[in-house]
Amino acid sequence: MKLAIVLGTRPEIIKMAPIVNACKKMNVDFFILHTGQHYSENMDSVFFKDLELPQPDYNLGVGNQPHRKQVGLMTRHMLEVFKQEKPDVVIVQGDTISVLSGTLAAKRLGIKVAHHEAGLRSHDPSMIEETNRVTTDHLSDFLFAPTKEATKNLVEEGYTSDRIFETGNTIVDAVLYAKDLAEKKSKILEKLDLVKGKYVLITAHRSENVDKRTNLKDMIRGIESTAASYPELTFVYSMHPRTKKMIDRFGLNMPQHMKIIEPVSFLDFLQLETHARLIMTDSGGLQEEACILKVPCVTMRLNTERPETVRLGINTLAGTHPDMIRAKVKEMMSKDNIEWKNPFGDGKAAEHILEILEKEMQTQPEKVAELTNQ
Ligand code: UD1
Ligand code: UDP
Repeated sequence: MKLAIVLGTRPEIIKMAPIVNACKKMNVDFFILHTGQHYSENMDSVFFKDLELPQPDYNLGVGNQPHRKQVGLMTRHMLEVFKQEKPDVVIVQGDTISVLSGTLAAKRLGIKVAHHEAGLRSHDPSMIEETNRVTTDHLSDFLFAPTKEATKNLVEEGYTSDRIFETGNTIVDAVLYAKDLAEKKSKILEKLDLVKGKYVLITAHRSENVDKRTNLKDMIRGIESTAASYPELTFVYSMHPRTKKMIDRFGLNMPQHMKIIEPVSFLDFLQLETHARLIMTDSGGLQEEACILKVPCVTMRLNTERPETVRLGINTLAGTHPDMIRAKVKEMMSKDNIEWKNPFGDGKAAEHILEILEKEMQTQPEKVAELTNQ
């Protein structure tokens, strides 16, 4: 089996890293195709270094353009690469436009698609990520559902069980791999002058929160007023480039009463998460990591495609209204020492995925059609 690993953004690099390592361990023939959706050093190459990944075999370099243009460019370039490389399977991860484009290019050539993080649903069709997930699932041959909830969503949508494989999420593999390394190597707590358990960690970048002035203003007011209510805690905000760009564009002030930092490496961020008193975010990956690391989380959204974290009590939804953000932070601050079982798997998701793919590809030996003729 020859596997094309498609990635393009920070979370995809992190969550595909265990797949790359498992390919090496299991002698699976693979190549890495980076769409270049994320391209800044601290959103891209830092993760290749941190996670000791080989450089991508291809980088399409199509970041920082309107999404509609990127989908066209990514798909066109990927068609060329896939025609040349002739992979048997293309694996994509998550819900970005890189994922959608990789899927479209593969299906155009009759190549099988494996979707890691299949079945996640926010049930909010206004989110571009929801459209990407639903479309990618629809076109995929192998649906790698990370949790029971994701499997249930797929079954309810009519997908047959022969396409669904519940494997856990490779984020657990990545966290287990990097956590001790982070503890040994990261100097971020010293660098930011932080005391373990005495700070709150923040990220926010979702389009629905930062691309509308009123929502972004509300969210910033909520974060600021929360920080002002806890003078004994330091608030640390790792600011995504999209959020910084929109704050500048809308002429808003940077959030006050906190340390605003540029995005940091995975090891540094994991260290920050591990020792945080609480996490405030709208990120999908952070909701998972908070749950895995057992750090209470307040999600500044009205819905989530990771509802298992909310049901376990480790995560709560606040939206972006300042009063709700403050109230939910207060509620979660009182939740000390809760015990819960991580619903995202046993840390061997990447190996499970590859074992399944190898087995399935042996029983479905039809090779890619004559790609060059398509
Ligand atoms: C994308 C994904 C989102 C995911 C997020 C992870 C889509 C539709 N969205 O959102 O689902 O949660 O990645 O972080 O695919 N920028 C830089 N440097 C970079 C990357 C981005 O400066 O390395 C800036 C650029 O101004 C760019 C903007 O951020 O235009 C937005 O980047 P983009 O990749 O379009 O979307 P994200 O918000 O990162
Ligand atoms: N992350 C990081 N450095 C940072 C902020 C986040 O390494 O400064 C990592 C974080 O640990 C998680 C991933 O980035 O694994 C989440 O990415 P993001 O929030 O950009 O995307 P989402 O998960 O929402 O798609």
